[in-house]
Amino acid sequence: MTVGVGILGGGTVGGALAHRLLTERQAIADKAGLSLDLRYLAVRELGKPRPYAFPAGVLTDRPEDVVNDPSVNLVVELMGGMEPAGDLVLQALKSGKPVVTANKELVAARGKELIEAAEASGVSLLFEAAVGGAIPIIRPLSESLAGERISEVLGIVNGTTNYILTQMCDNGAPYSSALAKAQDLGYAEADPTADVSGGDAASKAAILASLSFGTWVGSEDVYREGIEDLLAIDISYAADLGYLPKLLAVASDTGEGVSVRVHTTLIPSDHPLATVRGSQNAVYVKGPDVDELLFAGPGAGGDPTATAVLGDIITSSRELLAGAQVPPRVRFGPGRLRAFEEVETSWYLRLEVMDKPGVLAQIAATIGGNAVSIESMVQLGRDDEATLLFITHPSPEADHRKAIAALGELDVVRQVAAAIRVLPPT
Ligand code: NAP
Ligand code: HSE
Repeated sequence: MTVGVGILGGGTVGGALAHRLLTERQAIADKAGLSLDLRYLAVRELGKPRPYAFPAGVLTDRPEDVVNDPSVNLVVELMGGMEPAGDLVLQALKSGKPVVTANKELVAARGKELIEAAEASGVSLLFEAAVGGAIPIIRPLSESLAGERISEVLGIVNGTTNYILTQMCDNGAPYSSALAKAQDLGYAEADPTADVSGGDAASKAAILASLSFGTWVGSEDVYREGIEDLLAIDISYAADLGYLPKLLAVASDTGEGVSVRVHTTLIPSDHPLATVRGSQNAVYVKGPDVDELLFAGPGAGGDPTATAVLGDIITSSRELLAGAQVPPRVRFGPGRLRAFEEVETSWYLRLEVMDKPGVLAQIAATIGGNAVSIESMVQLGRDDEATLLFITHPSPEADHRKAIAALGELDVVRQVAAAIRVLPPT
């Protein structure tokens, strides 16, 4: 009962996984009832220093040989990126080998094609680690909640940005040093632009939405903004108003269509997601019958992520050893994607304005004239200038954008200095 495992990628996650397959082999066999034999670990540079030593013959720089070697029964893709990872995964699936991957970028972009290839070969494509690191969320959505009509999913699904925001909010750390620390800790992608620009979270949001609503959502369907423009002064003002910033993935199916977005969001400081700190992730699922579910835990890092990958390897190995064709796990039907402009959002606006009679009336008329309603306003004065902080009620994104543009045109407004979406209290 031995399964030969070939790993493509021996970096933060692949290195941690390979080390565990070698050092915990007996414990895995005792608990899972099967033996996992690490045959290969493919890397780009054989000469690179690595934190773990591997037996002779395990390290290779020829990933295609790993996929083709008959002693490899199961392929684990932990290289990241689109190519050559995508074609190697497809090749493995077409040759009848199950694949486990943590590559959210690949799954969000080519998941439908890869899932169909796996189905055609009667093997599994499992990707629990692609969203939420160690948190079990893919299997709960695709299996445990397969019968629930999920209406909304909110997620903090990027550990790097949550770590940066926590450092900025709690310790007043500068953005650049918090990002450098997240890279040192192994949370960030090889190119951290994917993290801070919202791209990594958008891929994860696309996967969550596809599984939650049964409609395929690709990464290109997700509206995204990152955390790069957030200023320390707005973190401070927001805290005074009872909010804190998170890079939030919001996916909803209102009956009028599915919408998926990722952007900096101010959330009320008593919201359950406000307690999710550092590299932790959380996914909050709403449905008519389950009401609310919260999945939370370590969202990034080598060992937590390797645990989720190992779980998928064990599941897939059991299927392989049972010898049967694996039935399809998910189905994607047709569905309407809602334009982001139609989606109702609330905003925090910081305006730097002239402090003289009639200014507030003009500003309020401009906001109201664009069908946006003000929930609260605070004025902080200094000499002949003032800072105005507004929180608006939910109304269509398009109306908010028109209101913000019109405010910027007013003579009395020196600057629309910040505009950040707000999660209304539930
Ligand atoms: P990483 O540290 O950058 O490691 C990537 C590995 O792939 C390295 O060993 C690299 O070789 C190898 N590689 C890259 N291109 C290759 C090529 N063309 N041929 C052969 N080997 C190649 O990445 P990671 O952080 O482990 O992430 C791996 C995957 O897991 C990504 O899809 C990522 O999004 C996902 N993920 C990561 C985390 C996390 O916390 N890090 C969490 C969840 C999911 P060298 O070592 O020689 O450079
Ligand atoms: N770079 C990703 C993050 C890794 O920071 O969340 C986990 O997917």
